[in-house]
Amino acid sequence: MNLLKIAVFLFNVQFVYLLNTYFQSYAKEEVQKQAARNVIERLIGHKVENISLKINFTLPLNYFKILKTNHTDILLIEASNGVSACKAFQYYLKRFCKAHISWDGNQLSSFDGTFPEAQYEMQSSSQIIYYQNVCTHSYSYSWWSINEWRQHIDWIALSGITLTLAPFQEDVWNEVYKDYGLSQTDITEHFAGPGFFAWQRMGNIRGWGGKLSHNFINFSSILQQNIIQSLNNLGIAIALPSFDGHLPVGFAKIFPDIKFTLTEQWNHFPMNYCCPLFLDPTEPLFIDIGKKFLTRLTEKYGTNHIYFSDPFNEVQPHVSSSEYLRNVSTSIFSIMTSVDQKAVWLLQGWMFVKNPFWTNELIESFLTAVPQGKMLVLDLQSEQHPQYNRTHSFFGQPFIWCMLHNFGGTLGMHGSLELINIELLSASKINGSSLVGVGITPEGIHQNYVVYEFVLEKAWNYKQFNVKKWIKHYSNVRYGFVSKEVESAWVLLLKSVYAFEGQQNIRGKYTYCRRPTLKWKPWKWYDEKYVRIALHKFLLTSTNETLYFNNLFQRDLVDLTRQVLQNQADILYLAIVKNFKTKTNITHLSFLCETFLELLRDLDTLLGTHNDFLLGKFLESSKSLASNNAERKQFEFNARNQITLWGPNGQITDYATKQWNGIVKDYYLPRWSLFFQKLLSSLEQNIPFNQSQFQKSVFEEVEMPFNLENKTYPIVSDGNSIDYSRFLFQKWNNMNITEP
Ligand SMILES: *[C@@H]1O[C@H](CO)[C@@H](O)[C@H](O)[C@H]1NC(C)=O
Ligand SMILES: *[C@@H]1O[C@H](CO)[C@@H](O)[C@H](O)[C@H]1NC(C)=O
Ligand SMILES: *[C@@H]1O[C@H](CO)[C@@H](O)[C@H](O)[C@H]1NC(C)=O
Ligand SMILES: *[C@@H]1O[C@H](CO)[C@@H](O)[C@H](O)[C@H]1NC(C)=O
Ligand SMILES: *[C@@H]1O[C@H](CO)[C@@H](O)[C@H](O)[C@H]1NC(C)=O
Ligand SMILES: *[C@@H]1O[C@H](CO)[C@@H](O)[C@H](O)[C@H]1NC(C)=O
Ligand SMILES: *[C@@H]1O[C@H](CO)[C@@H](O)[C@H](O)[C@H]1NC(C)=O
Ligand SMILES: *[C@@H]1O[C@H](CO)[C@@H](O)[C@H](O)[C@H]1NC(C)=O
Ligand SMILES: *[C@@H]1O[C@H](CO)[C@@H](O)[C@H](O)[C@H]1NC(C)=O
Ligand SMILES: *[C@@H]1O[C@H](CO)[C@@H](O)[C@H](O)[C@H]1NC(C)=O
Ligand SMILES: *[C@@H]1O[C@H](CO)[C@@H](O)[C@H](O)[C@H]1NC(C)=O
Ligand SMILES: *[C@@H]1O[C@H](CO)[C@@H](O)[C@H](O)[C@H]1NC(C)=O
Repeated sequence: MNLLKIAVFLFNVQFVYLLNTYFQSYAKEEVQKQAARNVIERLIGHKVENISLKINFTLPLNYFKILKTNHTDILLIEASNGVSACKAFQYYLKRFCKAHISWDGNQLSSFDGTFPEAQYEMQSSSQIIYYQNVCTHSYSYSWWSINEWRQHIDWIALSGITLTLAPFQEDVWNEVYKDYGLSQTDITEHFAGPGFFAWQRMGNIRGWGGKLSHNFINFSSILQQNIIQSLNNLGIAIALPSFDGHLPVGFAKIFPDIKFTLTEQWNHFPMNYCCPLFLDPTEPLFIDIGKKFLTRLTEKYGTNHIYFSDPFNEVQPHVSSSEYLRNVSTSIFSIMTSVDQKAVWLLQGWMFVKNPFWTNELIESFLTAVPQGKMLVLDLQSEQHPQYNRTHSFFGQPFIWCMLHNFGGTLGMHGSLELINIELLSASKINGSSLVGVGITPEGIHQNYVVYEFVLEKAWNYKQFNVKKWIKHYSNVRYGFVSKEVESAWVLLLKSVYAFEGQQNIRGKYTYCRRPTLKWKPWKWYDEKYVRIALHKFLLTSTNETLYFNNLFQRDLVDLTRQVLQNQADILYLAIVKNFKTKTNITHLSFLCETFLELLRDLDTLLGTHNDFLLGKFLESSKSLASNNAERKQFEFNARNQITLWGPNGQITDYATKQWNGIVKDYYLPRWSLFFQKLLSSLEQNIPFNQSQFQKSVFEEVEMPFNLENKTYPIVSDGNSIDYSRFLFQKWNNMNITEP
């Protein structure tokens, strides 16, 4: 007998939360069973017939058991709810069938339909497994319809995630604003476009990318109802928004006697697009509006009793006193409890990060104004800026250890696997730890799959993994192919790009994606040689016919080649700056500039060989949600602006930059081309290079025109990733940038 039994891990048993009782069933056992079956059926088709599923609410929270013996064809899964049953099957697939589930594609080729014998049970170390950042909805899901969501919800369930957000609220606000007598013009000027909802909701901006049509409001509202229903059917909870004080400026006219403040200007957004009103939470009107809003919202969307409200997300409170902040907190929470007695407040701990305003004394007042266990804090970036350790575990309020990892949905490879492996366990063990779960809170998805899979697996099991072994297994199951070369390539990545342990911000600072200047200082925390060797190892193995047509392998190969070329661009850039400054050889400088542009053309073609790297898909999906031509134009502008200028004049330009086919050729390349022209002509004419003059030109000649364009781009890949990657590797690896 070769039966496996996984030990039961459960930390924090000493810390009993009221919370626990809320994470019960949102749908009957029978409904959850059917929902879980449907998820599995979408994965393996009719083979689901040989699975016997049982959902039993009296089992411990987030628990599952699997049994398959040689005496029967039937695979037995017993779980505490639908999501745990899905997680059970995903784990079984990965461990016993060498299959792999991911955001964009699964590898099931090694699963032939027969179920290998297995026996194990697992109880999650976490009471809650959390996913989503308020920004993910704008960076990654803005243009999704139910089809994309269906696939994503399956992934959420199979990953064992038990709590997410449902932030769409403009439908309800629209009604509430009208009730208060706000004019249509005032409402229109307030709502941002679909690409920018997240920041309008946080009070950072208003109106940018709007206006919002009834059609789109209806569409989003129905979509959200469907999403919630699907998640709840699996026993997954959603948190709904509650009022946090941000209001359209028109409210000042309606309530002339109330003292509103303007929110601070955010990232230099002009007044017509920034600075909505902020209503102090201690004002009686705050509670009035909040109750109206939340009552309607819960009538429309139901409730799982969890509400998020973040009044001070990148906004500073104007009074720095414990009493005031206690009052603010009490007020916010009283809205929730007046509408729902079982309410729990979900707080993003983001405002405490690197913010000297929030002393421990103020944090304590703010957090403990809410009864213990009635607030759930997301420690939003625990992998880099943990707050639980400085706040004595959030002064006893339960918290979720979250990996943020990504800003703006940029695509560079990075992560901190070994560090997380250690830190998570120690977070659960510190004295008085109020850790109740683990989460992932990226601003954007579709990048660095490996780090998210790692953290979600750890979320169920805090015990330290052998990360090297783990990543080798990942390599094998992801491609359904065992190769020592590819395994060791992944180990090299683990030791380089995925071994980040610093305090620097890694926010997509890749030279070639940014507005050109002579001042960039490209930096890396890893030895880029490792990444090149990893690519070489991928290529050595790619000749095997099994890999040649393997979608996930091709995807990772493109990604790795992209990373190597991105590094190559850094080297070229530095050589260009140096040559420009020494002014010794214009011919050589010109050659280097040409080489840089050629590299960009090559990158564009490379990215075009895989469906996951196409600007065309992003733009077409934005347009597909429009109901008329004007809206098509508007949505396309939203999509283009978000990933480039991010604001009317480049307020946070390149923050959400993408390394995609189409944008490299038509945006980054013309920017650099113009830059190089200016550099060369400044040398030729012997006049200083003028950066601000260049910025003006590049904005007018390249950036704004791209934002307003309607050119279409391919929505299917072109060419073979493996052949092209090999060609580029040879071409660029052998290229020697010599100095004259
Ligand atoms: C069950 O079947 C597998 C595959 O045929 C075999 O390797 C294993 O030893 C069997 N287990 C038992 C307990 O007979
Ligand atoms: C279920 O298992 C039986 C016995 O191995 C097999 O004949 C049948 O095809 C399986 N059903 C499906 C849908 O795979
Ligand atoms: C559900 O699980 C409990 C143990 O937690 C067990 O006593 C009970 O019999 C199970 N119910 C069913 C219907 O299997
Ligand atoms: C939006 O939905 C509401 C309620 O279903 C309906 O009355 C209204 O006509 C819809 N509006 C549009 C523009 O489709
Ligand atoms: C806090 O609330 C109490 C009770 O409503 C009130 O008396 C006090 O003035 C408030 N303090 C501040 C600073 O808002
Ligand atoms: C909390 O942990 C971080 C990362 O491990 C560390 O940099 C910081 O100094 C710690 N803060 C305290 C107060 O222990
Ligand atoms: C943990 O903290 C409690 C109270 O803060 C204290 O009584 C106890 O001694 C501490 N335990 C350890 C092991 O430090
Ligand atoms: C491809 O890999 C498979 C599995 O490792 C192996 O059986 C096969 O011989 C390889 N083919 C070639 C041409 O090397
Ligand atoms: C300038 O650079 C070109 C091209 O790299 C090279 O052929 C030439 O010899 C250089 N001239 C001097 C004066 O160094
Ligand atoms: C650089 O260009 C800006 C904008 O075109 C202009 O205002 C400024 O005078 C120029 N600076 C120099 C030193 O020429
Ligand atoms: C694109 O824009 C041009 C010029 O503004 C216009 O003539 C053309 O009809 C537009 N094409 C589409 C598909 O909207
Ligand atoms: C690259 O250039 C350096 C001199 O700058 C030289 O030492 C080295 O041999 C060259 N490598 C190749 C592969 O040409």
